[in-house]
Amino acid sequence: MSDKKFYITTPIYYPSDKLHIGHTYSTVQADAVSRYKRMRGYDTFFLTGTDEHGQKIEDKAKEAGVTPKEYVDRIVDGIKDLWKLMNISNDKFIRTTDEYHEKAVQLIFQKMYDKGDIYLGSYEGLYCKPCESFWTETQAVDGKCPDCGRPVIKASEQAYFFRLSKYADKLLEYYDSHPDFFAPSMRQAEMVNNFIKPGLQDLCISRSTFKWGIPVPINPDHVIYVWLDALTNYITALGYGSEDDSLFRKFWPADVHLIGKDITRFHTIYWPAFLMSLDIPLPEKVYCHGWVLLEGGKMSKSKGNVVDPVKLAERYGVDALRYYLLREVGYGADGVFSNENLINRINSDLANDLGNLVSRTVAMADKYFGGTIPAERVKGEPDDDLIALAAKTKTDAENSLDGLCFADSLSAIWKFISRTNKYIDETTPWTLAKEESSIPRLAQVIYNLCESIRIISVLIAPFLPETSDKIRQQLGLGAIEDWEECGVFGKESTYSVQKGEIIFPRIDAEKELAELEALNGANKNDYPHKEEIEGVAKIGIEDFAKVDLRAAKVTACEPVKKAKKLLQLTLSDGTGEPRTVASGIAKWYKPEDLIGKTVVLVSNLKPAVLCGVESQGMILAATAGEDDVKVLFLEGVPEGSKIS
Ligand code: ME8
Ligand code: MG
Repeated sequence: MSDKKFYITTPIYYPSDKLHIGHTYSTVQADAVSRYKRMRGYDTFFLTGTDEHGQKIEDKAKEAGVTPKEYVDRIVDGIKDLWKLMNISNDKFIRTTDEYHEKAVQLIFQKMYDKGDIYLGSYEGLYCKPCESFWTETQAVDGKCPDCGRPVIKASEQAYFFRLSKYADKLLEYYDSHPDFFAPSMRQAEMVNNFIKPGLQDLCISRSTFKWGIPVPINPDHVIYVWLDALTNYITALGYGSEDDSLFRKFWPADVHLIGKDITRFHTIYWPAFLMSLDIPLPEKVYCHGWVLLEGGKMSKSKGNVVDPVKLAERYGVDALRYYLLREVGYGADGVFSNENLINRINSDLANDLGNLVSRTVAMADKYFGGTIPAERVKGEPDDDLIALAAKTKTDAENSLDGLCFADSLSAIWKFISRTNKYIDETTPWTLAKEESSIPRLAQVIYNLCESIRIISVLIAPFLPETSDKIRQQLGLGAIEDWEECGVFGKESTYSVQKGEIIFPRIDAEKELAELEALNGANKNDYPHKEEIEGVAKIGIEDFAKVDLRAAKVTACEPVKKAKKLLQLTLSDGTGEPRTVASGIAKWYKPEDLIGKTVVLVSNLKPAVLCGVESQGMILAATAGEDDVKVLFLEGVPEGSKIS
């Protein structure tokens, strides 16, 4: 066994939404660097998994009419299948519902409690349910969650608190003495200025308003906050807190926690503070990658784009999708996904640059030499340049990969692919083939091409494992044994090639986009949780202008017999015609609270029948708390006035 170890983690995903290419991007990056480290002889442990507790899951299970465990079981299988399909080489898959994890989390809670870092208090704050995070008044932005932009609600409960405030200075010291902890480094200033400098508050780490979580060991009325539960997966997966913690002793601290930038705070503030409390060393690096966006926002409108990785991999192959994600999104930056970009990348980089290089070379070796390159060869003019670039490419690819700059690494490799293609144009093998005297030179040229392609097959292996294998088969080579093979030009003494199938068929972009459009139309419901991912979508003024808002006076109001929640309002909206609107506000308003008041009417809403009442529009009301609704009343505004 090597004494070099490498431990990398991905986020553990919520099994509530269908995973999309954003999640795939996250996991594929971790896979590429894991494969690379293994090739370089590191004893590598690559962890991924699912984050299965919390109110969101409990709610969804209730909606689906199953137990939370039944609910997550179904989805987790699909996630595992997705990673299998994407050729993800994880060494372990952790579920936070695994028994060993639950036990270890309780032990961790107890340890922190015994140390005096946890106390019972009561919490009042602003809660974002989808993110399961509490915010202070100053952190919330215009009453919205600063992470996802959705409205937060006032909430209060008795709860256990972690003394996060105690660790502020220690965190700052750690950041300053570990300049590589944040990647990209700009995230450090963001965390320090936005969270630590304004003052770290103690963190609420238990909940008593729902049940689906790990019970607090000292008080089973509470469950442990889902982020404390989730973050500790990185050590429980290695056996921390269990009888056998040999993996923990071997692999911890993590070399890289790879995460999306939206969960930076949890990984660079909370997690290190928890670890400090437990007297466990901190991870070496937290790499915060950017988002894969659709035009207009984070996976926002599906706009005819297919974002289901399973469908994309089925149509273009797993490696095409892996390549696209790793190449298109820059280090720590966001990238914009579109089916059109994907197809263009496949056609230009994969079918044209790489695919043609392989098929042309193999075809020439076949045609001129019956597949086997003679040993008698003559060195020629552009060879040294090609060989020098091969060496430089190895260094460039390594430096970029060591720095988790996947796109840069691929870009360096593709420069070498282009150089190799240019080598064919420079040496014109078809001319050499015409003269008996230049056959030895032709042999050298084809040999150099094969060597270049062999080197490429090693360089691309971390990113495109399947393609690497396919190429090596055509070159008549076995499996790669060592990354260093890409540093030796001239390793093989000869080649016996075998023609194979085209590795990346060209795509007719126009036809394909039309087909995708149709497919997307038929499968619109594949993305039912879109709103959860996108936050609040931005609309143009022209969209807003479609809504006709009018001041309307309530002239009559009565309960709806068949529906306890509904009130039936009669409105005078300035047209002279009375208008009937049903509104689900009976819990908060009596008819007499409303009669005579002026409200905001959405006047051009399509009529809908609600419990037997035809509602001709709706009135506006605010969600003023988890269980509070306030109708918007207008004062001094005449009936029928347009509101814009
Ligand atoms: O946050 N582009 O889980 P999650 C890139 N359970 N990355 C994206 C993305 C996009 N469009 N959408 C999501 C959680 N992600 C927690 C993690 S870890 C102890 C607990 C990334 O399923 C997102 O940034 O909501 C996050 O890193 C990951 O997917 C998991 O998101
Ligand atoms: Mg999330």
